[in-house]
Amino acid sequence: MNSQNDFVKVAFANEVPPRTMKHVDVNGKEISLLNIEGQFYAIDERCGHMNAPMSKGQIRYNAEKKLISCPLHYATFDIATGQKLSEPVMSGMDMSALPKNIQDYFKKAGEILSFVKTNNMQTYQVINDNNEIKVKIPTQN
Ligand code: FES
Repeated sequence: MNSQNDFVKVAFANEVPPRTMKHVDVNGKEISLLNIEGQFYAIDERCGHMNAPMSKGQIRYNAEKKLISCPLHYATFDIATGQKLSEPVMSGMDMSALPKNIQDYFKKAGEILSFVKTNNMQTYQVINDNNEIKVKIPTQN
């Protein structure tokens, strides 16, 4: 059973207009606060792939799905559950104009990056308490 005492105020509602995100830091935990048509959500600020700041990404939604895409390699995650919906996009750049040693560097980096896993992300319960947005932060063990 949740009590309002379990929730920490992270922002005022007007600091996160509809269709925007705000990075908040709560007790050392980085969280992206999102507003979708007046409904607030909270998800890890750091991407489950390589820690890019998700609040710099994009929100997309329709009647069935709400997702956030990473600004760095565009992996997508379900805003409500944190589940990964699509993998990062790690290729597609035309490097033919670059010097051979630079092409080799990017090729090697790409091989190493292909082993990096993309994890689901954590989401957090959010309440709007008289225009104070509060998030429930799990206690650390
Ligand atoms: S850091 Fe987010 S998809 Fe790579």
